[in-house]
Amino acid sequence: MCGIVGYLGPAQAAPVLLSELRCLEYRGYDSAGVAVIEDGQLSVMKAAGKLSNLEALLLTKKPAATVGIGHTRWATHGVPNDQNAHPHMDSTGTIAVVHNGIIENHEELREDLIKKGYVFNSETDTEVVAHLVSYEYKVDQDLLQAILRSVAKLQGAYALGIVCQRHPDKIYAVNRHYSLAIGLGEHESFLASDSMAVRQYTNKILKLEQSEVAEISASGARLFDFDGKEVFRKPVSMESNPYIIDKGGYKHFLLKEIHEQPLVLRKTIGKYMSHANKPVNFVVTHNGDETPSYGLNFTDEEIKAFERIHIVACGTAYHAGLVGKYLLEDLCSIPVDVEIASEIRGRRMLVNEKTLTIAVSQSGETADTIAALTEAKLRGSYTLGITNRPDSHLGQITPNLIVTECGIEVSVAATKTYVAQLTSFYLLAIYLAEVRGAVTPERALQLKTTLNTIPMLQERILAKEVEIRKSSLKYAEAHDVVFIGRGLNFPTALEGALKLKELSYIHASGYAAGELKHGPIAVLDANVPVVTVVVPGVVYEKTLSNAQEARARNAQMIAVAVEGDEQVAKMFDTVFTIPAVEELFSPLLTVLPMQLMSYYIADYLGKDVDQPRNLAKSVTVE
Ligand code: M6R
Repeated sequence: MCGIVGYLGPAQAAPVLLSELRCLEYRGYDSAGVAVIEDGQLSVMKAAGKLSNLEALLLTKKPAATVGIGHTRWATHGVPNDQNAHPHMDSTGTIAVVHNGIIENHEELREDLIKKGYVFNSETDTEVVAHLVSYEYKVDQDLLQAILRSVAKLQGAYALGIVCQRHPDKIYAVNRHYSLAIGLGEHESFLASDSMAVRQYTNKILKLEQSEVAEISASGARLFDFDGKEVFRKPVSMESNPYIIDKGGYKHFLLKEIHEQPLVLRKTIGKYMSHANKPVNFVVTHNGDETPSYGLNFTDEEIKAFERIHIVACGTAYHAGLVGKYLLEDLCSIPVDVEIASEIRGRRMLVNEKTLTIAVSQSGETADTIAALTEAKLRGSYTLGITNRPDSHLGQITPNLIVTECGIEVSVAATKTYVAQLTSFYLLAIYLAEVRGAVTPERALQLKTTLNTIPMLQERILAKEVEIRKSSLKYAEAHDVVFIGRGLNFPTALEGALKLKELSYIHASGYAAGELKHGPIAVLDANVPVVTVVVPGVVYEKTLSNAQEARARNAQMIAVAVEGDEQVAKMFDTVFTIPAVEELFSPLLTVLPMQLMSYYIADYLGKDVDQPRNLAKSVTVE
């Protein structure tokens, strides 16, 4: 996590750095800071808390510098305070460093530097980089060589931005297994962890590859590998993508994004499926270009030969993967494993050239997910990414991408990207099933027709928002909430619990409904609301029986069920209804009342719903 930015050119650096940082605040909001060089003097300004604190500070300091770097932090080493905020300076106060990632051998380096007389002012792993570069710089006063010698000593995955008072016409950037983009404008250059932040100024983008150093000046950038050999690569022209911060009249981005879901689904479905009686088509071209911009590059023979599918993801994307498992197994008859990406590290990953590994990540930057897909690729597996950001790290490591059409999701809690990931799995499962001959043409048509109706059904749920809000607030004082579901809606229960936790900070757990009796039931009493997802289908009766077990313990009973279900109406205190739909498609609907419930409880409790405490939108550390 954390976001790095830089600017060098004729304009005042501070407003540009702030604007870039605003685009990256989703990567962390524990603190923010900038280092600028003005009249040959390096100065650092930083503040704990949200970017607005730094903004206020810069308003008082008014730096006129035209070169600088900046940072927005998600704390890993050291509490979020002013002292630990980036940039960090070396002891001479002439070199400043911003950093994203983790320097794994920082303790060892710190001890060594302390022995050499360096004094540390923070608890961060970043500060060792500032002192190390300073130490190496003393050797020959060559900053590029000093950085190269330093990176040779650093272990871990990281990205760095470095400025030095003695080189006010340069910014250095280092990328080791992260993402960094340089924007090349007219006599000015930009740097950012996410190309989106520089694309507000220029669409000429140079992305750093996995082990590269860039020497950036106002007139361009030179790239070097870690051995110091110059690398020549042309910038690419990216579609302009202005970052619009607009709540569209809603109180929060989260609420706006919940309401955008029908549109997002229409766009994502429409992109890959022109008509229900046509095959799903994953090849996407831009501007009438013959060459596919992205898509799936598998032949039908390869698809028929897949023996297993392995899905890797984290958080909400993992829940989407769990639904994906049900769909792919049910429609394509392929065995599917789903793993939390961070759990794969250090284990033998049993994939091979007959496996398709799917990484799901809205940001395309989640370090654990990237590491898992990289490992699968090394082991010979086919790879596929489901992401909202084709220009991300994930987009670089796999040639096969399904790109969701969500636009930017500003709120840290995922909502519209979740349903778009689910939609991608529906489309993928239908596509693979058709190629493998696992479904009849009639069933394929029926599936595609039903998928097309989902946005309209979602709109019917959102239209009941006032009622959902009223019912939700009855549970706002709960300390513990349990979510249960079976089959396809077990992941919905997990996602419902995650949404409530991250937005309202109320403790919530999701369980497979059948598991309740194997232990979790012990926590139930009259103070615990239990949310049961119970829709008609193969697990309906059994789920109701599990809910009865909770009712027998006097739990407060909430259901997400279809309209007109009288059995449910009799048994539950509160019912959030969804329109009737084939069970297979129900996860695209059942999650919506849960998102609204979590939002309204969190807002009622006065929580920061768009930027919940301790979280970051893009989790780029393992
Ligand atoms: O960008 P990704 O989809 O890879 O992110 C994965 C998780 O960090 C993310 O889904 C997280 O759990 C969200 N806060 C959920 O709302």
